[in-house]
Amino acid sequence: MLDNIKKATEFIAGKMEFIPEIGIILGTGLNSIGDLLEDPVIISYQDIPEWKASTAPSHQGRLLAGKLGDKNIVILQGRLHYYEGYSMQDVTFPIRVLKALGIEKLIVTNAAGSLNEKMVPGNLVMINDHINWMGTNPLIGENFDELGVRFPSMHEPYNKEFIKIAHGIAKENDFSLQDGTYLALSGPSLETRAECKMLAKMGADLVGMSTVPEVIVAIHSDIKVIGISVVTNLSNIFHSKAHTQEEIRKNALKAKHDLEILILELFKKI
Ligand code: HPA
Repeated sequence: MLDNIKKATEFIAGKMEFIPEIGIILGTGLNSIGDLLEDPVIISYQDIPEWKASTAPSHQGRLLAGKLGDKNIVILQGRLHYYEGYSMQDVTFPIRVLKALGIEKLIVTNAAGSLNEKMVPGNLVMINDHINWMGTNPLIGENFDELGVRFPSMHEPYNKEFIKIAHGIAKENDFSLQDGTYLALSGPSLETRAECKMLAKMGADLVGMSTVPEVIVAIHSDIKVIGISVVTNLSNIFHSKAHTQEEIRKNALKAKHDLEILILELFKKI
C-alpha cells in the first residue's frame, strides 16, 4: 500500500505546480463545482497509477488541481464506491494520496436520501456525525503507523469549527442549512421501507452509499473534515414510489446555487 500511495502521489505531484491545502470530493450530480477552478490541471483517474476508475453514473472520474482565490485546491470529480466491487482500501486510496500530496482539510459531498421529514429534496445538510452501517471498515488489516494510529478516535469526525463557519455562510447568504447524521450502507440496492424505518429509529437523518469510509480514512490520516449532503430524495418512509437516477440528479441540481456559494466561501474561510 505504501508503495502504491507513493507511485500515485509522485505521478500527480509531477503535473501540479503547487502543494494543495484543501481537497473536495464531489458526489452524484455535483460535478459542476469543478467548473469553479480557473485553468485547472486535469487528470483522469484511469491514468493515475493504482487509482481505480469511477464506474458510477454521473461520476466523471477526474482529478482537477488549481487555484481558487489564494487557496490551492484539488477537486475529485466523482468517487469510488464499495458497491462498484472495489475493496475498501481501493475506495479510500484517493484520501491516502490527497494526504501525501499535502492536503490538510477535506470537504466531502454526497447525494443522500432523507429519513427526516424536515430534510427535503434540494436541501443542504452539514453532516455532524455518521453511522457506519456498511458492515466493514476501511482500516481493517495491517495498520501502517506512518499513515495513522491503530484505533483512531471518532469522537468528532466532522470539524465543529468548520460547521459553525458553514452556518455563518448560510446565514449571510440567506439559504437553509441543517445539521444531520449520515448513515452509509453498502448499496447498490436501495433501502426497503422497513429498513428506512429502522435507520430512522437508529438516529440517522440521511442515508447513502458513500462518504463514511473516506471520512474514517481522513480522520486516520489526521485530515480535518467537512461533510455536506445534498438531499436528493425522500426515503421510502414517506412514500412508496421507486427512486430514479433522473430524480436524484434533478434534485441535486436544485441545490447547485447554494452549494456553490457554500463551497466557495468555505474555501476562503477555512
Ligand atoms: N438511498 C441510498 N443512497 C442514496 C439515496 C437513497 O435514498 N439517495 C441518494 N443516494
